Amino acid sequence: MLPTVADMPSSDTALDSQAEISREILKAREEYAAAGVVETQPRLDYEPYRSSILRHPTKDLHHADPEGVERLAPCFGHLDLDPVEADLTIQHSGDPVGERMVVTGRVLDGDGRPVAGQLVEIWQANAAGRYVHKRDQHHAPVDPNFTGVGRCLTDDDGTYRFVTIKPGPYPWRNHHNAWRPAHIHFSLFGTDFTQRMVTQMYFPGDPLFDLDPILQAVRDQRARDRLVAAYDHDVTSHEWSTGYRWDIVLTGSHGTPMEEPEEEA
Ligand SMILES: [Fe+2]
Repeated sequence: MLPTVADMPSSDTALDSQAEISREILKAREEYAAAGVVETQPRLDYEPYRSSILRHPTKDLHHADPEGVERLAPCFGHLDLDPVEADLTIQHSGDPVGERMVVTGRVLDGDGRPVAGQLVEIWQANAAGRYVHKRDQHHAPVDPNFTGVGRCLTDDDGTYRFVTIKPGPYPWRNHHNAWRPAHIHFSLFGTDFTQRMVTQMYFPGDPLFDLDPILQAVRDQRARDRLVAAYDHDVTSHEWSTGYRWDIVLTGSHGTPMEEPEEEA
């Protein structure tokens, strides 16, 4: 499981200013408001997110038989997961640098029922905003005690829980002086690999929200809000970690916005 390259720094020459990108975001918002149609999933073509235009398929998708695919695809089982994989702070010999936190929530279907036994995977930058990935070479330190990947299964109540470090914002080359809000990537596999869904979780009150074309590619404000975790003091523990809560709704009008599978590397 590697970090997605979708929002990694690229080698493209950064030409546009934040002001130009912000103008385009504003224009897209006005167009969305004028259209009067609720659109909760990210746009495939969202001009301020420059590479979005190049990355999605231009031809109709070829639909494969999911059961046929499953005969050849890798599989996972409950025995393949170790509970310690849900703690990203104990994967090395020392403590990682940064704000220790618990991120927990429930995976729910469109009717509010818990989705039990769901494989939830996360990947993220470290506290300095740096990924352990060859394409991330920006000037911030790699933490030798933090890889930034973890996974777990939801319990009978649909609850997942990770212990990790709060990621930092990081620059990317969508435009000049482009910075991503702090976020954690989430992947959910459904009942088999052909049902994989990928999204990102953000932190409340981030000043970069309005400037970020990836988040803004979800054009509905309430849908964007569903990507933002809530600080939860009941999840915070005494002299140990802060706590955030974030529920993931797989379908329906309150569904969590998901990225298109084709966007993943
Ligand atoms: Fe990222």
